[in-house]
Amino acid sequence: MTTAAPAVKPVPFMLTALEQGDIDAATAVLRSGMLRSASQCAALELKFAELSGARHAMTCANGTCALQLAYEPLFEPGDEVLVPAWSYIATASMLVARGCKPIFVDAIEATGQIDLADAARRVTPRTRGIAATHMYGCPVDIGATQALAAEHGLRVVYDAAQAHLSTYNGKGIGEFGDAVTYSFYATKNLGTGEGGLISCNDDKLARDIQLLRSHGESEKYLHERVGYNYRMNDITGAIGLSRLGRLARETKARQEAAVRYGEILAKVPGFVPLEITAGATSAYHLYTVRLDLGVLKTTREQVMKDLGALGVPTALHYPRSLPQQPAFARFLERQGAWPVAERLARTVMSLPMHHGLTEEHFATIEHGVRAVASRYGG
Ligand SMILES: Cc1ncc(COP(=O)(O)O)c(C=O)c1O
Repeated sequence: MTTAAPAVKPVPFMLTALEQGDIDAATAVLRSGMLRSASQCAALELKFAELSGARHAMTCANGTCALQLAYEPLFEPGDEVLVPAWSYIATASMLVARGCKPIFVDAIEATGQIDLADAARRVTPRTRGIAATHMYGCPVDIGATQALAAEHGLRVVYDAAQAHLSTYNGKGIGEFGDAVTYSFYATKNLGTGEGGLISCNDDKLARDIQLLRSHGESEKYLHERVGYNYRMNDITGAIGLSRLGRLARETKARQEAAVRYGEILAKVPGFVPLEITAGATSAYHLYTVRLDLGVLKTTREQVMKDLGALGVPTALHYPRSLPQQPAFARFLERQGAWPVAERLARTVMSLPMHHGLTEEHFATIEHGVRAVASRYGG
């Protein structure tokens, strides 16, 4: 079978390749025989805490475990916890794993972030916390989140799985809230394959999380409480530490790419970039736009298909809001509606974003979006 050569060289949607230094760091651990969580994980924790503005950082197996380890000491079964209707499933599903009731909060259309005014309307006497996701790498309105939490005595966990090294009011996001969780999944800005981390600023909470992470063990074979094995290993730690050394540079490259996108899309009707929260800098894990289907007289699927044929791959983050997921159906009674999140699920689309985008890539992207916009009336 022969396949026709593509008309244009496609722009890579993401860039996950390791560099030789990462491979050397992992190989050194393999050679040492010290494969369990040891010096590399400890060094990653120290460096990550320093770079994100947190006092404590604890590595763990993945971003889902990170949420579970943060939620368990802060929330009790039966608590109501406000959570974005517009997020990845783990932010809410790990609340359910804790026995909490997720109270879904609608999004802000312009940013895709949790709407704190809607959150305030959904507070009840049973509300104990807010679990807010820094979507696409951009911090939520942390000022409004902390103010709502202070007003009602709520605990705050920020899900920063997509937002490594982002900032709010000039500070690292690790400075805010009770705990911040991260994912090091292969495609994340700091990808180690699988991996995660929780940061916090409270000594007791840090100890609780460390105990929970490793079977509640405070001395060898002395188990103070029931816990899990959610530890990272040192091969993963070494890759993470090596990659962390260049993450600030790579994040800056993503931010510069976002500026280029802004220049290009300002001249293309129908493609509306998501806005950044006031006072925040985004880590641009993803570059997501809203399609104005009143301007582009076609479907999102057609736009994606045509862009793909022009060498511009796209993806959906996400095709459904969380309340639209069957997994949460039993929690929705008397919760009202989430019209913005559902509209985002119908209209968003992510374009290529990574630290290796070149002017050649942007020429392909600009040509693609302009061609599609003029084809469909934009
Ligand atoms: C917002 C958000 N939260 C949590 C997670 C879960 O992280 P992990 O895949 O490492 O378990 C992800 C990963 O996709 C995510 O994007």
